[in-house]
Amino acid sequence: MTSPAPAPGDARRYSRITGTGSHLPPRRLTNADMVALLAARGLETSDEWIVERTGIKARHFADDGVNASDLALHACRAALQAAGRTADDVDLIIVATSTPDMVFPSTACILQNKLGANGCMAFDLQAVCSGFVYALSVADAMVKAGGVQCALVVGAEVFSRILDFDDRTTCVLFGDGAGAVVLEASDEPGILATELHADGKHVGILCVPGTVAGGSVLGDPLLKMDGQAVFKLAVGVLDSAARAVLAKAGRSEADVDWLVPHQANIRIMQGTAKKLKLPLEKLVVTVDEHGNTSAASVPLALDVAVRSGRIQRGHTVMLEGVGGGFTWGAVLLDF
Ligand code: UT7
Repeated sequence: MTSPAPAPGDARRYSRITGTGSHLPPRRLTNADMVALLAARGLETSDEWIVERTGIKARHFADDGVNASDLALHACRAALQAAGRTADDVDLIIVATSTPDMVFPSTACILQNKLGANGCMAFDLQAVCSGFVYALSVADAMVKAGGVQCALVVGAEVFSRILDFDDRTTCVLFGDGAGAVVLEASDEPGILATELHADGKHVGILCVPGTVAGGSVLGDPLLKMDGQAVFKLAVGVLDSAARAVLAKAGRSEADVDWLVPHQANIRIMQGTAKKLKLPLEKLVVTVDEHGNTSAASVPLALDVAVRSGRIQRGHTVMLEGVGGGFTWGAVLLDF
């Protein structure tokens, strides 16, 4: 629980994470399961290829009829419980997702109703795999501006719904899940600095190039990725975002206790840690068990590290996102 927050407009008004939660759908598919699934479609893959190129050993897929808001609901309940809060305390919900329940209304509104937090602000934010870092930065600004005391910031995805199981270069990479944090106004930090970027000239390297019009799907509603192009861009922008957010906060690499990057590929994550001269023990890794859960990956990894006792109160944590758009960003915080 945080102490009473300074009044709106007070420079000492900070935002602070007071609880984390996450949820994975129970259906777990190992790489062996993916080998069998692809073989049935006449495609080859192997556990060795997937582990060596990505670090992924398993991913979770939601059952039919289970949507992003359902996964988010579990994550939010756990986060609220950890913060000692109830749905009545929440005055803002932001859901970062690229796999919303419906075209509209927002998944945040659907989640709000399931939580029983009716009446508060609620909206979705679309920044693909950078979505949670974007959403946390927006919520931080809204808390500091004074209009919000207690926010639920969520990343929730059912990427299994937009995978092309005839494309072995992408379908083995992604999974479903949700993570959430409770962010509250506080007189102590908290979020120290945020850094967000986008470059729309790279729209085509990671996209779902379809839409709905006249009662039909127009274009292709399945995920396309130029993996090598994304890889190269990700390595560069994750490093620059990390350095920029540290500079903004007046901190150095040596101050970072934990790096929680977007969980897409172990090689990218380890490369980022090495460039920052962080020992690999400070890198939180869940990609092996979760696969790439897009906007859910960072809050899922954060919650796993908190609940396992690694991330503790007072630790300095760097969160990093990168993904379609192209979008990227970082948040530095004292937990
Ligand atoms: O969430 C947003 C951020 N996303 C990312 O950060 C993803 C970034 N990209 C990556 O992680 C990697 O580029 C991949 C994991 C997607 C691919 O790894 P790669 O080392 O770049 O492999 P590649 O695309 O160069 O493919 C190497 C070979 C190819 O065969 P040839 O042409 O060398 O004969 C592919 O056809 O691996 C083949 N291949 C596969 N083989 C077995 C591609 N997919 C598979 C597969 N199983 N599933």
